[in-house]
Amino acid sequence: MSIYLDNAATSVRKPESVINAIKNTIENYGNPARGVYTESLNSSRLIYEARENIAKFVGCPEVSHVIFTSGATQALNMAIAGIFHKGDHVITTEFEHNSVLRPLNHLKALGIIELDYVKTDSQCNIDFRDFERLIKKNTKAIVCTHASNVTGDILDIGIIGEIAYTHNLCFILDASQTIGVIGIDMVKNHINALCFSGHKGLMGATGTGCLCINDIDVEPIFFGGTGIQSFEPVSLREYPEKLEVGTPNIIGISGLNAAVQYINSVGIERIFCHESMLRSYFIGEMQALGRYRIMQNEALNHTATVAVIPKDTDASGLASYLSDHGIAIRAGVHCAPLLVNALGQQNNGIARFSFGYMNTQEEIDILIDTLKQVSVN
Ligand code: ALA
Repeated sequence: MSIYLDNAATSVRKPESVINAIKNTIENYGNPARGVYTESLNSSRLIYEARENIAKFVGCPEVSHVIFTSGATQALNMAIAGIFHKGDHVITTEFEHNSVLRPLNHLKALGIIELDYVKTDSQCNIDFRDFERLIKKNTKAIVCTHASNVTGDILDIGIIGEIAYTHNLCFILDASQTIGVIGIDMVKNHINALCFSGHKGLMGATGTGCLCINDIDVEPIFFGGTGIQSFEPVSLREYPEKLEVGTPNIIGISGLNAAVQYINSVGIERIFCHESMLRSYFIGEMQALGRYRIMQNEALNHTATVAVIPKDTDASGLASYLSDHGIAIRAGVHCAPLLVNALGQQNNGIARFSFGYMNTQEEIDILIDTLKQVSVN
């Protein structure tokens, strides 16, 4: 296996307990809420337990308001399409991933919403007061990421949540890059819709994620069977059935449940400390090499994702070179076009190194040795 440094895309090394849970579920579990036999009841129980564990994990006040999705993209689409009405004004940022930008742009193109951006620049500067300055009479919501998937810059959700709360706005947070690494409390941070994937920091399987809602109503965009109240012609009003239709990803949900338990058993602070140590060590070594520019906002906190601009090759050339030497990183635009534009890297792209809990300092030593060879060749 590669020295895997693309954890911002997905974690590849999963805890043993996650793998075992998935294996057990694929072998023994049935369709929940549709049968009175053991395999079905086991699934219903498992899903309830997973919902409960996740609600506790993110401070979602109602267990039934944890909605399982196929990932953060589905969760964000459901929140964005399910909350806004014609004439609403929405504030977002230039740090966003296309999973936020595209559903918002779609509604804007349909003439449903107006959209404004909190801007950044080539130093990733952000003025949090801009969230307040952009508020208009018809502003309905702030939709933003917790941390950039390119630079690892963490946005201060304490400040943003407070602004949203004070102005009675809905706060939709994309926590794809922080879930499982930084503790999140929906109530404390006034988050109304928390969207995240299960396969990155949480170390669950791909095809999993959640939309957790707090103190708002979200209209469904998917309709179908729930296994209960089948004579209802449209969709149920109660959660989670209102938003969760069709056979759930029970295999993925079992992994997610095990993943949350694993993170609780290790301790999220310990995970953050380990990843931060790797990040600092990597940045120190890269700066010593002197051929790489690190793009980040020094004033913010960071996840263990580092944006690097090689001074004498392009980002994809570096990624290919490392891949040839058994090291996996991602290069390009990272589905974050506004940020990559702001950083002035639309032509060369950015090389992204993203560390996870399973990475070690020794792996960074091998990486640095490999990078030293690139400068010799
Ligand atoms: N959103 C993922 C990334 O940043 C796929 O790589």
